[in-house]
Formats: sequence, C-alpha cells, structure tokens
Amino acid sequence: MFTSSPKVLVTGGTGYIGSHTVVALMEAGFDVYVVDNLSNSNIEVLNGIEQITGKRPVFENIDCTDYVAMDKFLTKHEGIKAVIHFAASKAVGESVELPLKYYRNNVVSLVTLLELMPIHKVENLVFSSSCTVYGQPDVLPVDEKAPIKKALSPYGNTKQICEEVIVDTVHANPAIKSILLRYFNPIGAHSSAAIGELPNGVPNNLVPFVAQTAAGLHKKIKVFGNDYNTPDGTCIRDYINVMDLAYAHVTAVERLLNKDIQEPEVYNLGTGKGLSVMELIKTFEVVNGVKVPYEIVGRREGDIEQVWANPSLAQKVLKWKAKATIEETLESAWKWQQRCMERK
Ligand code: NAD
Ligand code: WQD
Repeated sequence: MFTSSPKVLVTGGTGYIGSHTVVALMEAGFDVYVVDNLSNSNIEVLNGIEQITGKRPVFENIDCTDYVAMDKFLTKHEGIKAVIHFAASKAVGESVELPLKYYRNNVVSLVTLLELMPIHKVENLVFSSSCTVYGQPDVLPVDEKAPIKKALSPYGNTKQICEEVIVDTVHANPAIKSILLRYFNPIGAHSSAAIGELPNGVPNNLVPFVAQTAAGLHKKIKVFGNDYNTPDGTCIRDYINVMDLAYAHVTAVERLLNKDIQEPEVYNLGTGKGLSVMELIKTFEVVNGVKVPYEIVGRREGDIEQVWANPSLAQKVLKWKAKATIEETLESAWKWQQRCMERK
C-alpha cells in the first residue's frame, strides 16, 4: 500500500461511471479530485458520494476542453499522480446529428489533458474506451486482439481516435503511461442507491428504460427486433455491474502507480457472459417482482447483433473479475429507480 494517499484526478467524476469510481477510489484510500462541467450530471451527486464514503471529494466545475482552466486546476492541486478520464459526450444518436460536438468534446478534452500532463508531471492516464470499437466481432467472446471495425457512429469513432491519440502520444513521450479500458454494457447502481445513473430525458439504454417502464413512466418498452440470429432472436450484450467496473479502475490506477509499463495496455471489462434483451427483461421482472410490459418492434439502426467479452486478460494482469450477479445488479437498478421516484 501507499505511505500517503496518492492524488487522483477524475474527469467526468459526477457522471454515472465516474461517481461510482470516485466511491471505489475513496474507499481504497486515494485522495480524489473531480472536475466536471455538469453537462450530463448533477452537483447533488457529491452528496451521494459523501453519504457513502463519509467524505467529499474536491470538486471544480471545469470544462476539460478549456486548456487555461485545466492548467490552473493542475497548478492549484499540484502533485496529482494519475488521471482517470471519463469526461465525454456519449449519446450515439446525438453524435450522428452533431458530429463536431463529439469530436470537439471527446477528442479535444483528451488532447488538452495529454498536453498538460507532462507540464504538471502527471504520468498516469486511465482512459474510458468502449466495446463499440469491436463493432460486430467475428469471434465471440471478443478479446483485446480482435480487429477494430469501422465505427458505426461519430461517438464510436471518437473512442477509436482517442485510443490512437494515446498510443501515439505515449510512443513519443514514454514518461506517460496509460491503460485503456474497454467497457461492455455498464448497468445498475451502488447498492445503497445513494448514486446511480441519471439519464437525460428519455433513456436510450435498455436498463434505465426497463426500470422506468416498471415504475410506470412508460407504457411499454420497445424490444428492437426478435429476428436476430440468437437463441431467442433478440440481441445479446455483456451487462456489467457499475461497481465492478469502478473497482477495475482502482486496480488500473494501482498498476500504473506500481509498474513501469511501456506501451499502453488495453483491457476488456465485462463479465464474460452474454444476456439477451428478453432474458434481461424477464430477470428484471422476477428478481424485483414487477411487470415490464413490452412489445417487439423493428430493429434499431446500427445495433450490433451480439457481443460479449473475454475478460481473462483483466483477470490475469489486473487481478480483477466482475463479481456481482445479474440478479443483484438488476435489483440495484430497481432500487435506484425507486429512489429517483421518491426524490421527485
Ligand atoms: P456520463 O455522461 O454519466 O458521465 C460523463 C461525465 O462527463 C458527465 O458528468 C458530464 O457532465 C461530464 N463531461 C462531459 N464532457 C465534459 C467536459 N468537456 N468537461 C468536463 N466534464 C465533462 O457518462 P458515463 O456513462 O459515466 O460514461 C463515462 C465514460 O465512459 C465516457 O467517456 C463514455 O464514453 C464511456 N463509456 C460509457 C459507456 C456506457 O454505456 N455508459 C460504455 C463505454 C464507455
Ligand atoms: C442494449 C440492447 C438494444 C433500448 C450503447 C452504445 C455503446 C455503449 C453502450 C458507450 C440492444 C436493446 C435498448 C430499448 C431495446 N456506450 N434495446 N429497447 O446498444 O449495446 O450500446 O450503450 O460506449 O456505444 O451504442 O446498449 O443499452 O442501448 O442496448 O430493445 O428501448 O437493448 O437494441 O440490443 P448498446 P443499449
């Protein structure tokens, strides 16, 4: 362990995955600093973090694309040892309508950080990437050696570009070390329901929509296609508990701080198990004792038929494994949904 608490900067730390990771880092003894421009999160998330950990991370409302503001922040909080860069825009559909918003926000924020890191002697970067880089893999489960497929959206393309930007930068400046984490489908909430996912408007993702439908906020959930080449005809994904995902970030930061790694390392973060849309809906109903009315509609454009992870590299090197069962995870999603309703 560490003699003093290493300082870690979490960009996008009031967002969904960021807030759960802040909790995991604080519980592991890190000194956590958060920057977020609150473009897709709420300042009250900090209350939830404090409720769980008994502490409040340092927070500043800063846009990560703002070089001057980030420079000032890193000067003020000298001694940051690692950055976990979550801050990005993530709505796939919106990225098709507004590609430049996505290229600016996602790529420029990363470039800004990479420019500032050597100036402030910050040597370690964990980057939020996505299984979207694999498209529809030829071999399942997909491992990190699988080819990167042409992105189906500007959002997906920003993840591919950012990975390349990091590889090129580390190659040119070996003082920077990096781990790229490719998340599969993060779902659920902290078991306390003090923090969770706050979708903006009508959710695009399956689990928040399922939970809202169970709560009566929507009449039915539309199941996008049951004519895929899968056992029940609906798409298959690897749904990973958000706290399990958060713990993987702690192990990644610890590895960067303790090991002299040369090239950027890439890890899949998933459970290794695929679940279909219908299996997920049925499991949600059973574990939570609620009804989720649904209707089968046509396929959603751009959907991948089936993808799940081979997470064995993360298990071997990071000594990390997803532990939560899908039942526990869907219970946490329902508990969080109920908490959101109480607050209204
Ligand atoms: P989120 O929207 O909940 O969190 C992102 C946070 O970043 C938000 O709080 C937002 O306000 C902030 N932010 C955005 N742009 C910013 C900027 N320029 N400056 C400062 N703050 C900014 O999203 P999330 O689901 O927590 O995703 C976190 C990261 O993980 C993103 O990079 C996303 O692309 C990636 N990712 C997410 C998923 C998923 O399914 N949720 C899957 C794979 C990868
Ligand atoms: C899961 C399954 C839908 C909603 C997206 C991004 C991806 C990644 C995670 C960041 C699919 C089906 C959904 C609904 C449905 N993010 N579905 N009815 O599509 O795997 O990935 O989020 O990198 O880039 O594309 O996740 O939760 O949207 O969908 O039937 O109302 O649920 O068709 O099969 P997806 P999702």
